[in-house]
Amino acid sequence: MTAPQPLIAGNWKMNGLAASLDEARAVAAGVAGSAARVAICPPATLIHRMSEALAGTTVLVGGQDGHAEASGAFTGDVAAEQLADAGAKLVILGHSERRAGYRETDALVAAKVKAALRAGLEPIVCVGETIDERKAGRALEVVTGQVRGSLPAELAGTTFSVAYEPVWAIGTGLTPTTPEIEEVHRAIRATLVEKFGEAGKSVPILYGGSVKPANAAEILHADEVGGALVGGASLKAADFLGIIRAL
Ligand code: 13P
Repeated sequence: MTAPQPLIAGNWKMNGLAASLDEARAVAAGVAGSAARVAICPPATLIHRMSEALAGTTVLVGGQDGHAEASGAFTGDVAAEQLADAGAKLVILGHSERRAGYRETDALVAAKVKAALRAGLEPIVCVGETIDERKAGRALEVVTGQVRGSLPAELAGTTFSVAYEPVWAIGTGLTPTTPEIEEVHRAIRATLVEKFGEAGKSVPILYGGSVKPANAAEILHADEVGGALVGGASLKAADFLGIIRAL
């Protein structure tokens, strides 16, 4: 089984206006020759324009969430089909900011994953423990439980990735130690193999949470780390390229 190509994805969260497309263009201009697949997930308002701005480059565009239904009376929501229609190729699902802020359960995340597959999008499914859960010694139990509950059987045979994002490391400047990251990634791998058999060995497991150019090389070369999901440091092309080049 060959190792999957690493994926480095930027999650712009609720940041970015039309002028920010220049950062995306600069990323595209700087990634030539990278060993990684590179994606930027801007807010929904920029997906179409970014897809056009990056047409003909290797940088993929993704969404940050997608509704489980294809259409309907869901004010303010965006369907997976609409993300794909706007040019998205991937979608982040189950981010902790949505699990915490919008009470998204594993079951809802799994329904959104199915919707993403229906729309032809590649899911990046996020999992991660809170600081209280880690302090209570429950990190592995919580994370593997999220992997079991958020990944529907329909993912078998498709291209997708899992992102381990400890909630306490997001936007805080704190990161787990490399052995801590490896311990969780190995537990996720075992759960993927339990769920998907041999195919579970080639699913990239991304790390996310305060990844920056200074710590990227160590994190990206850790055992079972197949890429990164980057928040704040993906907003500036120079920082994001520094992370991509650390691979
Ligand atoms: P930061 O890189 O800003 O910590 O955010 C991580 C994240 O939540 C990516 O999805």
